[in-house]
Amino acid sequence: MNEPFFIGTAQLPNKVLYAPLAGCSDLPFRRMSCRYRPGIVYCEMVKMDALIRHDPNTYRMLDYEVGMHPIGAQLCGSKPQIAASAARIVEDLGFDVIDFNCGCPVDKVTKDGSGSGMLKTPHLIGEILSSMIAAVKIPVTVKIRAGWDDQSINAVEITRIAENAGAKAIAIHGRTREQGYKGKANWDHIKACKEASQNILVIGNGDVFDAESALRMFAHTGCDAVLVSRGTMGQPWIAEDILRALSGQSALHRSVADLKKSLYEHFDCILKYQPERQSLLDMRRVGCWYLKRLTGVKELRVQLNRSATTSEVFQHLEAFPWEGIHMTHEPIFADL
Ligand SMILES: Cc1cc2nc3c(=O)[nH]c(=O)nc-3n(C[C@H](O)[C@H](O)[C@H](O)COP(=O)(O)O)c2cc1C
Repeated sequence: MNEPFFIGTAQLPNKVLYAPLAGCSDLPFRRMSCRYRPGIVYCEMVKMDALIRHDPNTYRMLDYEVGMHPIGAQLCGSKPQIAASAARIVEDLGFDVIDFNCGCPVDKVTKDGSGSGMLKTPHLIGEILSSMIAAVKIPVTVKIRAGWDDQSINAVEITRIAENAGAKAIAIHGRTREQGYKGKANWDHIKACKEASQNILVIGNGDVFDAESALRMFAHTGCDAVLVSRGTMGQPWIAEDILRALSGQSALHRSVADLKKSLYEHFDCILKYQPERQSLLDMRRVGCWYLKRLTGVKELRVQLNRSATTSEVFQHLEAFPWEGIHMTHEPIFADL
């Protein structure tokens, strides 16, 4: 199962993909992710408008290192007239795949029809995809939700539109925009898209939190690949776990010591990339993901959140009595 997976001309090492996560899948996150060889890692979503006006912060979100290939960029916007230029910038930066975001539920994004707002104008999704595809040689894909709300499920219709426009893959998050991140993802919608697809690859997304749920996603939907989102937070090794399960290998035991080591390594990646103030904020956010996977660490979480400097964070980690701490196997969710 650890076999190459092709999205158009892009060769990926496998079919376990790590999703774009705004505010999370930054360079330190991707450094940690790449240690476990997911099929691809994505940068955080960037806005087409900001990219074409060469906004430096937007470019920084697309920072990557040679060892991170295959790497994808995700564009968000609703204007066909700038989609081609934005796609060309991404291609020139050396990305392997361009994904078009049609799933972001945030009001600020949907108010101009972008993100999941695009679900209300499926023909425009086709138009934007066509103009990107005509502008670049690298494969273009799209990520959608099942629909805007339960009364307007249109993932199958959009799968057909994306396929006709020439998109190489479509990732379907089995929730509606109305659901946000609440409730369960309905994988039946992903299955329906797979059944409706002819050539376009269908990527299943939503509620893949461990190897077992990834196997269920493949079995239930028949999808070609899985896209792991919140399941990557505080367990960068999830691709390795899923790939082992797919090839029938036994699960690796992940101990508290492994988790602690990974937490330190992640903090180290942050410190190497961000100045002190931003590092502190990022360490609080990232620390929370890892600590949520443990029981008996409430006090440590409070201490991390109250720390005024990064060295204070490390002092608390060093002083903490790690003996007697256990892993929890409850699925954890991001604070949204
Ligand atoms: C903090 C956060 C940031 C996200 N940012 C993006 C993003 O930039 N682009 C995108 O397509 N989806 C984004 N998503 C959605 C996820 O990729 C995914 O579709 C969703 O979380 C469902 O998968 P899950 O149930 O496995 O988490 C984000 C989700 C979260 C929780």
